[in-house]
Amino acid sequence: MDINTKVLGICGSPIRGGNTEVFLQQALDAARGQGADTELISLAKMDIQDCIHCNWCVRKQENGKYCNLHDDMNQIFPKVLEADAILLASPVYFTRLSGYMANMLDRLRCLGHGNHYHRALKGKVGGGLVVSWFRNTGTETGLLSLLGAFMASGMTVVSPGLGLGSPLGAIGLSSEGGEGKFDPKERLGVLKDEYGVASAQQIAREAVDMARVVKAGQQALKG
Ligand SMILES: Cc1cc2nc3c(=O)[nH]c(=O)nc-3n(C[C@H](O)[C@H](O)[C@H](O)COP(=O)(O)O)c2cc1C
Repeated sequence: MDINTKVLGICGSPIRGGNTEVFLQQALDAARGQGADTELISLAKMDIQDCIHCNWCVRKQENGKYCNLHDDMNQIFPKVLEADAILLASPVYFTRLSGYMANMLDRLRCLGHGNHYHRALKGKVGGGLVVSWFRNTGTETGLLSLLGAFMASGMTVVSPGLGLGSPLGAIGLSSEGGEGKFDPKERLGVLKDEYGVASAQQIAREAVDMARVVKAGQQALKG
């Protein structure tokens, strides 16, 4: 069965073309290799305000009106709704995800708890990717905060699979071996982390496979 699949990658690094973005791009290239359509959104320089918990979305949403704050989230909401799979990539900041990514995720609450967009992410597939400087300073705690957002949204979570790093998601290390050494001329150290890049590529393939399974199941249930 030929099932069209859209994979949206969202990068939560303030650096355009930095380690997190190229790591996510590796994943999206692999998804395209599986026949999926892909798009990458960088949150760098986007105007994304904090969720102010006004609960407008809980009472006043209409079709195409997601949130009472009007900023660049208005471009992101429809793309998230259209996607079959969402790959979230964050740099590790203080053993968790970046503020850019956290702000964006908080604003997605209106697609889960809204009066019009209620549980709207259910059935979508989520995969988490993180890039850190050091090997053991926050990669899995960073991934856990991404997984929490997927699970709170009722999404189906995928992993890079057995033998490719963490079951929680894809991990890239931007210093040599994750040991803090680096060549000052090399800006994109994560691309040298072949094991990490393989995990990013694999989680994307798993996301495409799972999105197709979910879509086929939904079509079968509709009859
Ligand atoms: C505010 C801040 C906090 C950071 N905290 C961590 C950390 O806890 N653990 C770690 O390994 N790297 C940490 N880093 C390093 C980044 O995760 C790392 O340099 C990563 O490659 C940045 O990705 P980018 O090139 O997309 O910006 C931190 C960097 C910044 C700016």
